[in-house]
Amino acid sequence: MRRLQLTEAEQGEMDTLVGRFLDAGHDWDPLVAAEAATAAAPGLPLRLREFLAGARTAESDITVVSGIPLDPALVPTPTGWEAAAKSAAGRREEAALLLCGSVMGDAFGWESQQEGRIVHDICPAPGMESSLTSASSEKTLSLHTEDVFHPCRADYVALLCLRNPDGVGTTVASVEDVDLPAEVRGTLAEPRFRFFPDDSHSGPVPGREGGPAAYPEERVLFGPEHAPYLRFDVDFMAGADVAAAEAVRVTDALLRSSAGRVVLHPGDLVFIDNYKVVHGRDPFTPRYDGEDRWLKRVNLLRDVRRLYAQGRVRSRLVPA
Ligand SMILES: [Fe+2]
Repeated sequence: MRRLQLTEAEQGEMDTLVGRFLDAGHDWDPLVAAEAATAAAPGLPLRLREFLAGARTAESDITVVSGIPLDPALVPTPTGWEAAAKSAAGRREEAALLLCGSVMGDAFGWESQQEGRIVHDICPAPGMESSLTSASSEKTLSLHTEDVFHPCRADYVALLCLRNPDGVGTTVASVEDVDLPAEVRGTLAEPRFRFFPDDSHSGPVPGREGGPAAYPEERVLFGPEHAPYLRFDVDFMAGADVAAAEAVRVTDALLRSSAGRVVLHPGDLVFIDNYKVVHGRDPFTPRYDGEDRWLKRVNLLRDVRRLYAQGRVRSRLVPA
């Protein structure tokens, strides 16, 4: 894990940049802002840019920047993303997230998730307490690769903490830290697994109507044999045969036993390498009093042209 704490002077620089960035856009459009952020990012503090560029080059598994300035007049935590989407809640924070994120990668969104928003709000929603989505609270979110089913899933999941009064932990486990038995490792490296869209995706998702068998058989471990990447989500994958199913069970247990915890405080921004690290969240009791845990999230690709090459139109919004 790599960490950086911004100094007061750097926070001042960021505040000025975010103010200028917001003033330049007449209507807040995250799709436009995502592109504009890349152009404006050289205005970020030099030490921050060097830190993020270094983390990207080194493929740091978890990268944390502390001290991102937050709006002192931050509105109460919305009750779910739909409520957040209707307001201008957290614009300064969204801008800060897109600016820093653009040093690591290109922001994109899913047509099927949070109605195509680029910057997501993660906050507990009434009625969703036990769901398998980021709107849940009382249920543990098990360790997962973000959007495990999709070939263009994020390289990084970036989370900026606005509130976390109870210190709820984000759980993380890196493929580098888990000691997989050779036989299991061999099975995971073969195309014997199917991955499905998770419950945060709504509407028509290709393959869903056809059921599990409609998805191709793919690998859990891929890339360099000595330092493989990982895709894993025990709730939204299945082994195609008995040995593959057992490999999923063993891997899940080993990941859980090796998992650590990052507790995000307001102003903490974490980049989770979605090719190396699975993440989850500890359960908590929601308050619904405006003080609940609230994160802004963005998915980042190291090159957004991976999306353009797969689709029929040049868009940062991907159909699932
Ligand atoms: Fe997630």
